[in-house]
Amino acid sequence: MPAFAPDLVGVDPPQGGDPAPQPPFLDEGASGDEDGEGDDGDDDGRDDDAPELMAGPDGRSDEDAGDEEAEPEEVDADETARLAALAADLDAEAPDEAPEGEIEVARIDEDALKVVRRLHHFGYEAYLVGGCVRDLLLGRQPKDFDVATSAEPPQIRQVFRNCRLIGRRFRLAHIYFNAGKVVETSTFRANPLDEMDDLPKDLLISQDNVFGTSEEDARRRDFTVNALFYDPRTGKVVDHVGGRVDLDARVIRTIGDPHVRLREDPVRILRAVKFAARLGFTIDPTTRDAMTCHAREISRCAAPRVLEEIYRLLSSGAAKPAFSLLLELGLVPVLFPELASALGCAEGGDAAAPPDEAALRARTEMLSVLDALDACRQRGVTPSHALCMATMLLRLYLRMQATGQDANRWLDEMSAALVARLRFTRRDRDRVRVILQAQRHLAPDRRRGGAAKATVRRGAFLEALLLYTIHLLSSGGDLAEVGQWKALARVEGQPFRPGEVAEREVGDPGEGNGRRGGSRGHSRGRSGDSGRRGGASTPEGSRRREKKHRRGGRRGGPKS
Ligand code: CTP
Repeated sequence: MPAFAPDLVGVDPPQGGDPAPQPPFLDEGASGDEDGEGDDGDDDGRDDDAPELMAGPDGRSDEDAGDEEAEPEEVDADETARLAALAADLDAEAPDEAPEGEIEVARIDEDALKVVRRLHHFGYEAYLVGGCVRDLLLGRQPKDFDVATSAEPPQIRQVFRNCRLIGRRFRLAHIYFNAGKVVETSTFRANPLDEMDDLPKDLLISQDNVFGTSEEDARRRDFTVNALFYDPRTGKVVDHVGGRVDLDARVIRTIGDPHVRLREDPVRILRAVKFAARLGFTIDPTTRDAMTCHAREISRCAAPRVLEEIYRLLSSGAAKPAFSLLLELGLVPVLFPELASALGCAEGGDAAAPPDEAALRARTEMLSVLDALDACRQRGVTPSHALCMATMLLRLYLRMQATGQDANRWLDEMSAALVARLRFTRRDRDRVRVILQAQRHLAPDRRRGGAAKATVRRGAFLEALLLYTIHLLSSGGDLAEVGQWKALARVEGQPFRPGEVAEREVGDPGEGNGRRGGSRGHSRGRSGDSGRRGGASTPEGSRRREKKHRRGGRRGGPKS
């Protein structure tokens, strides 16, 4: 693949591994201390140095608000008195000095540390948990920091004023900080199936509000490397499941019997692929066999959860290794049956029926565009859902065009199936169509005269050009073409930076590179409440929305 030309897609390169967080969606100036007077002077026993609750709920749409929101439960009077007494001491107390333990304190989010320390102060057990511990131990920057605690949801609510309880099937606390940041704090859960004498036939977890110990909480999680706890007080990693050994050996392994764990929540099959691809880990052979064996059960999961994981596989910068794994493990016929025959995919994976020559070529082409998508991601482009799908379909679509087949009809049928099966949105479907159809307008012989001007004025020009860039990258084409299109766009006064495009395409909210909360985040915030409601569109908000999907969608499956 040719070297990636930094400015071709008009996106600044990232500063570090993962792209920098986008601007917050809150009103500017909204902070925990708007009057600038520090302590609010009350004595209610809650966190005075933490900001007030500022963000709205976690980006939920109105239609699911009723499901997720839950009124705080009553805490008995003795408990309230105990918390109030403890709170009186809190301000006088010096914060715990975190020892330089197995994880450098400076790498831990200070608000998450604050949550853990405060829970400790109130006599509860509390740890950092899950992906953040895994990533910190791997030297990666975590996307977010989750906390697990022995405090039950109403007790967490008592400890933090800046807290909101959410979820019915998986009740947990969101603790809010500046710029819409949320530290998700959940109570230790036991696996409800462990409470039963005999395993039911249907293992899909439908309730997950059985509280338990920290060890039980670790054991109900999906993979050993995701079940590590970190105690900042002692500076030690707490490992109940052998996660450290697997982290060192770079292995994804379910906790306990993979057949049981994957049937409890078949989306874990896709999560295993995601972690293996993203972290460059191998999958333990027994876990791998169980993934193939239970692949069909993915279709029992809520479609939005499955679609969200597909997007994560495609957009995280490791789409190529992820798709290779989907092919190897026989997951393509489950996720994309419409692509199975072109890619020579058999149920049960390649061992069941090796692909023929044409299928091998189609696979190579598919993987090379996904490799180019990964290169763009590494340069700081956050591909939109539509761009991810369009990239996946690109080479098959172009081959159909080149061989005189009705590519648009194929695309329409394909998209209709995606809409029906995975709840792919109609807006994304239309966008994919526009982006793919625009490719022929970007050919070098179309870059002159009125036709070229019309092309740069098209609504989805930026994404079409990104896809064209991806195509050139994957096929060894001349990237100078992209620069020429950009120059023309400049002359025509057309935007090519993602933020600018988002501003202009306001008729299409929520579209495009996750940037709705990006450059527009501030201006929406300033204009009033829309900024808050737009929280779902910031990367932070959208991430929380994804988490909500996982909890609700998997009917309460395990989640910290
Ligand atoms: N989890 C689980 N089963 C699931 C989803 C989540 O056991 N189906 C648990 C895992 O312990 C996981 C944690 O909840 O580490 C947080 O989930 P999530 O945020 O989805 O994953 P992370 O591991 O944090 O990975 P990422 O880096 O993608 O956020």
